[in-house]
Amino acid sequence: MLLTSQKTMTSLSAPAQEPDAQGREWWRSAVIYQVYPRSFADANGDGLGDLPGVTAHLPELQRLGVDAIWLSPFFTSPQRDAGYDVADYCQVDPAFGTLDDFERMQWRAHELGMRVIVDIVPNHTSSDHAWFQAALASAPGSVEREHYLFRDGQGDEGQLPPNNWESVFGGSAWTRVTEPDGTPGQWYLHLFDSSQPDLNWQDEWVREQFRGVLRFWLDRGVDGFRVDVAHGMIKAPGLPDYTPPAEGGSMGGGAPSDGALDGMQPAAEAEPPTAPYWAQEGVHDIYRDWHRILDEYEGDRVLVAEAWVEPMSKLAKWVRSDEMNQAFNFAYLEMPWQASALRGVIDTSLAAFGSVGAPSTWVLSNHDVVRHATRLALTFDNPQGHGIGPNMPVRPDAELGLRRARAATALMLSLPGSSYLFQGEELGLPEVIDLPDDARQDPTWTRTNGERYGRDGCRVPLPWRAASPAFGFNSTGESWLPQPADWARYARDAQEGDPASTLALYTRLLAERKAHGLGLGEVRWLDGYPEQVVALRNGDVTVIANTGSTSVELGDGEVLLASGPLDGRLLPADTTVWLA
Ligand code: GLC
Repeated sequence: MLLTSQKTMTSLSAPAQEPDAQGREWWRSAVIYQVYPRSFADANGDGLGDLPGVTAHLPELQRLGVDAIWLSPFFTSPQRDAGYDVADYCQVDPAFGTLDDFERMQWRAHELGMRVIVDIVPNHTSSDHAWFQAALASAPGSVEREHYLFRDGQGDEGQLPPNNWESVFGGSAWTRVTEPDGTPGQWYLHLFDSSQPDLNWQDEWVREQFRGVLRFWLDRGVDGFRVDVAHGMIKAPGLPDYTPPAEGGSMGGGAPSDGALDGMQPAAEAEPPTAPYWAQEGVHDIYRDWHRILDEYEGDRVLVAEAWVEPMSKLAKWVRSDEMNQAFNFAYLEMPWQASALRGVIDTSLAAFGSVGAPSTWVLSNHDVVRHATRLALTFDNPQGHGIGPNMPVRPDAELGLRRARAATALMLSLPGSSYLFQGEELGLPEVIDLPDDARQDPTWTRTNGERYGRDGCRVPLPWRAASPAFGFNSTGESWLPQPADWARYARDAQEGDPASTLALYTRLLAERKAHGLGLGEVRWLDGYPEQVVALRNGDVTVIANTGSTSVELGDGEVLLASGPLDGRLLPADTTVWLA
């Protein structure tokens, strides 16, 4: 299809705010790399990644060109939900190392010019946490029970759960306890696994404990926090029954996103009904409080919300100027590889976050979703968190998935704001589909009796060296989840020095993004391209992403980079190009 020679530009985004000369508000344009410690690198060879493993590989992340790393939880935990079940917020789990290991890792990251963000999990503790153990040992109505959400059951003998809420991981959200005197007793709420009791954030004592946790890590120099389940901490008074709309596509967003993978248009800005456990107004007070705590510290620290909230205009409340600084953009993650849907979500994001002076964020993969190198080739609906496994109706085309993933990343990294990368996507890693059933560890798998595979497929340990045991994840060959036999081809050392590799593409994208100041730029849509194309200009870079199945003409401009081979001046299907 021919392009019109006169392309017009429409500006649709508010310009991102400039940081000052001291690099204040570094997070406005940062590319932040998620380290999932248990699967990143294993220095002691026990099969589970650790903090010394992270330290050892920081130079590779610096070479990749990321501005910051965010580490998923490495705190003391029985690991029932891969560390999102914290038993001590101020200690490193021995499986990951020691507090000294953390400090060494952070010192080295700072030395290499990268900031460090840690994960904080305030919605729930582990059932092993001393606070919960004290609550179990205390009587109904005690101060200790007030720290959590204990309720009497329904029915003559309290034998039925207090309400009909379901756990995000499947099954009831309530578990009954045995009282200290041996009688069947109260029930406690857990929006996730039964080993993750929800805290009562109406309780001032709980708030005070977390102020202490924040200060503990701020005193150690962390650059910020990723706040887990930042939409769940306050529940509606009276804990009323609630039946969610048919299968939701997101982890608690409260609105279904069925069809997100087969051509859905961006979410309309109509507000879906709010579940009584998500997105309650009361959460905002907590974040204002936390904002003030971060302000007590010198330097620029960031609070990032993991909040599955729709619509985006509501999510923007999490990032008002006195609350958090950023929120993950899951609406973007959930978009299909489809030009009009992408244009729509980019517009909505820039407008919503821009309306409160916050940068937009962008993300395509993390430890809770099917890796985008696979997801973008799925031909069936797959709600977030369900995962995929051998029983799927159609196997995704791996080559198509990778081609689209590279193109999608090249589009994402051209956008103004902050981008989040998940470890391994720079290697083009696919989701692991064929994990043996008995290897799966996500509680989703057991809580649904194998009906949902869960999230293990994106969490498989990274391949570093093609010819080493466990592909260089460690030196013993142990691996908490088995790596596919054919992963040598994704190993970092197999990609280094290969200009066509996904690693080379990511490195180039990050370098050019920085060189052209795209993170602080502005999106201007380019008209005159076919409908299947996302065409925009940011600063002096023109970006053209072809989501269709036929080639399109490139138009003018020198090719700065491309996500895949070009066909002369034609841009093939599923390819993104940056022109200067
Ligand atoms: C968040 C985490 C997820 C975890 C859940 C419960 O959504 O990202 O991995 O299972 O919270 O803590």
